[in-house]
Amino acid sequence: MAKMRVAQVPHAKGAFELVERDISEPAAGQIRIKVEACGVCHSDSMTKDGLYPGITYPRVPGHEVIGHVDAIGPEVHGWKRGDRAGVGWHGGSCGYCHACRRNDAFACETENLVTGITHDGGYGEYMIAPASSVAHVPDGLAATDAGPLMCAGITTFNALRNSGARPGDLVAVHGIGGLGHLGVQYARKLGFETAAVARGADKAPLAHELGAHHYIDSAAEDAAAALQKLGGAKAILATVTSGEAMAQIQGGLGINGTLMVIGAVPALNADTLFLLRGRRSIKGWYSGVASDSEDTLAFSQLNGVKSMNEVYPLSRVAEAYERMMSGRARFRVVLTMEG
Ligand SMILES: NC(=O)c1ccc[n+]([C@@H]2O[C@H](COP(=O)([O-])OP(=O)(O)OC[C@H]3O[C@@H](n4cnc5c(N)ncnc54)[C@H](OP(=O)(O)O)[C@@H]3O)[C@@H](O)[C@H]2O)c1
Ligand SMILES: [Zn+2]
Repeated sequence: MAKMRVAQVPHAKGAFELVERDISEPAAGQIRIKVEACGVCHSDSMTKDGLYPGITYPRVPGHEVIGHVDAIGPEVHGWKRGDRAGVGWHGGSCGYCHACRRNDAFACETENLVTGITHDGGYGEYMIAPASSVAHVPDGLAATDAGPLMCAGITTFNALRNSGARPGDLVAVHGIGGLGHLGVQYARKLGFETAAVARGADKAPLAHELGAHHYIDSAAEDAAAALQKLGGAKAILATVTSGEAMAQIQGGLGINGTLMVIGAVPALNADTLFLLRGRRSIKGWYSGVASDSEDTLAFSQLNGVKSMNEVYPLSRVAEAYERMMSGRARFRVVLTMEG
């Protein structure tokens, strides 16, 4: 049987292992993808550190996958060998349960699949994905450019377009990491008055380059007060990995404003009186499904939204992951399967 290289986590908190595995055949409803590139997301720490309930090992992380369709299982329609294909966090849905029928595939009651968590993801030369999780990838987008759009991109784009903010409204993007640097670009291109909020003066020039109208240094000033001075935010896209920082910035919400919680923080304190006095809300947002990925890729290509990437070969996976976790990557780390 032909073999492939994958990077697996042997057990929770274990070090990455590069191993050879058999390339298996896709079962009914599945597609095998020859992976070209896979982004490294902060959420991969859920696989690495065993933070997701019920996860079993060994497990191959990776939910920013771009490649080509390599083999197609029975009962799959609409795909042919060689098609460009991408897979994000949402790992597939049944299509017929109550949630799927309400067009809420992420809440699918039957499958509840998450790429790189419930089944192996894209840190490898091949992966097998349920066809319901696979998105078409347009020509003209390099695999390393498209990869980060499958999670960092879709999450920020989809959250912003579902935040209730309309063109001209003040929208803040909190945190300029892998997700945030795309969030700022989307916010600007979606027509919002865009404020970028991060720690340190050094990020100001880049925030403006990404399209921010305002830059707020949360280390030097009270970011919530600064947003109130600008009129109060209709939406705050909170991509930071700190619940305290998120709790602090909720004070920047304007009347009817919504804090879109993107960062997977363990807890968040709500200022309930502040919320109810101004009909403000706090809302969690997951990335989206395959059709949202396709919308994200199309919007990004049309409007020139691009992830800034540091590219590593799969053989340097441990270094690539540490680079992302350190927060020093500018801004997304992407693995390629060559070398
Ligand atoms: N909801 C979803 O569907 C979804 C999808 C993808 C990812 N996520 C989650 O989103 C979060 C961000 O992911 P990522 O890949 O963008 O991570 P990342 O590249 O590590 O970026 C995180 C950013 O948070 C900032 N930050 C951390 N603590 C802060 C604080 N106290 N004050 C201000 N900024 C702070 C960091 O700023 P510094 O540079 O100043 O350290 C960094 O820029 C993670 O929790 C991830 O698990 C959620
Ligand atoms: Zn992710």
